Amino acid sequence: MNLKIAVVPGDGIGPDIVAQAIRVLDKVCQLNNHSVSYETVLAGGAAIDKVGVSLPPETLEVCKKSDAVLLGAVGGPKWDKVESSNRPEKALLGLRSGLGLFCNLRPAILYKQLKSACPLRSDIIGDGLDIMVVRELTGGIYFGKKGKSEDGNEAYDIMSYTRPEIERIARKAFEIAQKRNGKVTSVDKANVLETSRLWRATTEEVKKDYPDCSLDHLYVDNASMQLVRNPHQFDVILTENMFGDILSDEASMITGSIGMLPSASLREDSFGMYEPIHGSAPDIAGLDIANPIATILSIAMMLRYTFSLAKEADSVEAAVYQALEDGYRTPDIYTDGMIKVGTVGMGDAIVERI
Ligand code: NAI
Ligand code: MG
Repeated sequence: MNLKIAVVPGDGIGPDIVAQAIRVLDKVCQLNNHSVSYETVLAGGAAIDKVGVSLPPETLEVCKKSDAVLLGAVGGPKWDKVESSNRPEKALLGLRSGLGLFCNLRPAILYKQLKSACPLRSDIIGDGLDIMVVRELTGGIYFGKKGKSEDGNEAYDIMSYTRPEIERIARKAFEIAQKRNGKVTSVDKANVLETSRLWRATTEEVKKDYPDCSLDHLYVDNASMQLVRNPHQFDVILTENMFGDILSDEASMITGSIGMLPSASLREDSFGMYEPIHGSAPDIAGLDIANPIATILSIAMMLRYTFSLAKEADSVEAAVYQALEDGYRTPDIYTDGMIKVGTVGMGDAIVERI
């Protein structure tokens, strides 16, 4: 297979962690006889410095022509005074909407080797955790009509969803659940919100096409409580944009370090954008201490969701698992007695284990 990747290293630790992810992808491709090509493009602060805009049109074009995008992170204090319409973070929103990426997957996995980093009691986490949050990414209140009254004393943001928007994200959730253990929990606020009643009815309709899956519904306030009370009841969480934003942050916290969590943003075809969930961490940029695992696990998601290379994806995840098992730790996940390594050292440990 030939893999055509657009690479957006971005700012801060972005270039450091992306470099390690590329080493991993190179090794996987070499071992499995795939060819891979990369085209590196500018976005975020790096793009502002070079060409004056955070998302140059050429970047979007190159991304559109690729099979998948690998993104580091964008932003940093250096660009805090840039006008808001051209902020580095705007590039991310521009990429997501410009590429039509309506489905955001955020797996929250707590490895058993890192249990001591989890803020929950050990009897609650048991042997580890593995939850997949499926968040709608281009609809809902974030994209609805917004405004304020002339006197400035009233403001509004309208939450709106159409049946097709709910259907397509629900299908994604069920397809993912089929590859896991078939359990989908849809989160809404159907006791109060009209959009949530449409959400609930539509997800029930879609479920009929997936007889091998189960579907439960929870109100979002209850779901946020259940996530810390008994996280093992969840496998796939399906939810709208804002609820997903909040719940995925909550879910990520129970896995210990933000440096561990990958994400995928997808649409109907196989195209996808893959990135760690953390930001550009300007406080540790260039120090060779950033944890590259979130970005490396994003490569595993790319292999799985864009290229349908499950065996190759498994091999990346297994190498990460083994590096942790063998005691390798970047400072953010370090505990006494382990082997402390930097960004490159963790990359070495993982590449060696593929
Ligand atoms: P952040 O995620 O960059 O950093 C939060 C804390 O986690 C920092 O102490 C950082 O050192 C640490 N951290 C993050 N990633 C790490 C890793 N891989 N290994 C070890 N430690 C890690 O969030 P923050 O500080 O709020 O934002 C910094 C900049 O990044 C801002 O400009 C923000 O807008 C931007 N940002 C960009 C995102 C993206 O590109 N997807 C997402 C979130 C923030
Ligand atoms: Mg958020």
